[in-house]
Amino acid sequence: VIDIRKLYAQTGMFTYDPGFMSTAACQSAITYIDGDKGELLYRGYPIEQLAQKCNYMDTCYLLLNGELPNAAQKADFEDRVTKHTMVNEQMQFFLRGFRRDAHPMAVLTGLVGGLSAFYHDSTDINNPEHREISAIRLIAKMPTLVAMAYKYGKGEPYMYPQNNLSYAGNFLRMMFGTPCEDYKVNPVIEKAMDRIFILHADHEQNASTSTVRLCGSSGTNPFAAIAAGVACLWGPAHGGANEAALNMLYDIQKQGGVEKIGEFIKQVKDKNSGVKLMGFGHRVYKNYDPRAKLMQETCNEVLAAMGLEKDPLFALAKALEKIALEDEYFVSRKLYPNVDFYSGIVQRAIGIPVNLFTGIFALARTVGWIAQLNEMIADPEYKIGRPRQLYVGSPRRDVP
Ligand code: ACO
Repeated sequence: VIDIRKLYAQTGMFTYDPGFMSTAACQSAITYIDGDKGELLYRGYPIEQLAQKCNYMDTCYLLLNGELPNAAQKADFEDRVTKHTMVNEQMQFFLRGFRRDAHPMAVLTGLVGGLSAFYHDSTDINNPEHREISAIRLIAKMPTLVAMAYKYGKGEPYMYPQNNLSYAGNFLRMMFGTPCEDYKVNPVIEKAMDRIFILHADHEQNASTSTVRLCGSSGTNPFAAIAAGVACLWGPAHGGANEAALNMLYDIQKQGGVEKIGEFIKQVKDKNSGVKLMGFGHRVYKNYDPRAKLMQETCNEVLAAMGLEKDPLFALAKALEKIALEDEYFVSRKLYPNVDFYSGIVQRAIGIPVNLFTGIFALARTVGWIAQLNEMIADPEYKIGRPRQLYVGSPRRDVP
């Protein structure tokens, strides 16, 4: 690793690196990925162990504080989060400005940024106390906002949070409960939802996290920085891939299912087609994304619990994966399933509509964005982010 800053100070030389293929924009002690091994660690703990032994609240605490909580710390953290699950009643009027068929990510981008208008007591990103309370507020309110966006789209009444439920259970109730009846949280679905949250909680310097860091580096408030992350996540090359992956499976199914996989793969290999195998490939993983393995496991559990073991879409996804993993095109480029390949199938089985998948991702990633923002601001070397450019335009000229 070359610290190019010294070279820049001495010679004015800087690097040209579109897409940040080989530029580390920060040091970080939060998440480690070994792309060749297909390993993911949060604060040193393997994702498989966290998914097995911890829940999302433990994971949030870990990402924010560097250590897993003891029982008292966990109880205190959960208590603080649950005290902030409601949003200001004004939020629903803000929501009403949107068309009912608005994409939930458009709604979320607005609502999350809009939170800064309600918390004038915590908008100073350089103040650790402001950052701390904003973190709790954001983690607590994201499920409420995502569920509100969903209910609004359906024209159903919003469900207020119920704080004696788990984080995942409360979210499921706000999504699928109605004021007319008691909502019973299915423990298998609750566990699956919690696991989805854990698997999406952080992933080092991806596009949305880098966006949050860059946005926060200007000294903007934490809500605005997280809203920028939500906006970036929306794209199909990033968080929007789960939605795109499921739509791709639907398309293949419509065209004839498993028998049409060969034709689809042919299209993917044709560079002029513009078709990609969504949910495949990753900038860092050149091996199986460990989250995809865990997601496939969760898929099995959820589908079994719902009596959907023979789900044709899951069968199609597995057949597609098998064919792709044996195909020279994917093998030579080290393209493997990423987290988005199976997450859509799990979410669909839970009853989450396709256009809300990326909203769920944003909900879960909020803690990672905040942890990264905190780390950046606490770093004594922190400066406003300001990439350089290679100017290739016209030389100086005079207006005629
Ligand atoms: N389908 C077909 N070909 C692919 C795919 C894919 N999904 N992904 C990469 N390739 C090909 C590229 O065309 C390129 O081929 P070439 O060498 O012949 O030009 C080669 O593999 C290398 O790919 P790049 O695009 O250079 O890799 P990059 O690191 O820039 O892109 C990305 C990574 C954006 C994730 C890409 O793999 C992709 O678009 N995948 C599909 C979308 C997706 O699943 N995104 C989710 C990522 S995970 C997340 O954000 C949670």
